Amino acid sequence: MKRLIVTLLALAFITTATAAIAADVVTYEASKGTVTFNHKAHQEKLGDCAKCHEGTPAKIEMTKDKAHKELCKSCHKDMGGPTKCNDCHK
Ligand code: HEC
Ligand code: HEC
Ligand code: HEC
Repeated sequence: MKRLIVTLLALAFITTATAAIAADVVTYEASKGTVTFNHKAHQEKLGDCAKCHEGTPAKIEMTKDKAHKELCKSCHKDMGGPTKCNDCHK
């Protein structure tokens, strides 16, 4: 039991520690132009971490398919965010 509590405390600590260092703004270099993702603005606007993260929020490895088909662009289509190439690629 004691061991379980220690593990839970350690997990809680790791969770808050990572959450605290999530970058406010992330940029992705692409041949079409650099994409700026404002993590903080999305967090505040969308409220729910689970809109993008499964389980405990952690780093998401970005790929073209993820950006265009699974995450960024598909949500923008549903929620009225930017969907034109140059809205994202500057
Ligand atoms: C909602 C934002 C968004 C929109 C809209 C968007 N992209 Fe992207 N795109 C990204 C992100 C983010 C990446 C970076 C993926 C990565 O780092 O692997 C990317 C990656 C790419 C890449 C691959 C990276 C490279 O250097 O070759 C190409 C090509 C690309 N986009 C072209 C386009 C074109 C063409 C359009 C319009 C039809 C478009 N994108 C619309 C966000 C967007
Ligand atoms: C609109 C989508 C979206 C939402 C909503 C979102 N995130 Fe993220 N988050 C991302 C993406 C994309 C990354 C990857 C960015 C990167 O490469 O660092 C990320 C990265 C992270 C990371 C890892 C940072 C790193 O570099 O290790 C943490 C921690 C995180 N998010 C926490 C949260 C928390 C907590 C919430 C809710 C309050 C949240 N996120 C909401 C998209 C989102
Ligand atoms: C779950 C929904 C959702 C996801 C996932 C999401 N976005 Fe958005 N995003 C929005 C909404 C909604 C807006 C419009 C906000 C507004 O008009 O105030 C927006 C606005 C933007 C804007 C323009 C405003 C700004 O903040 O500069 C950019 C650029 C953008 N998103 C990039 C991205 C990229 C890149 C990703 C993927 C890493 C992404 N978004 C993922 C919902 C989402």
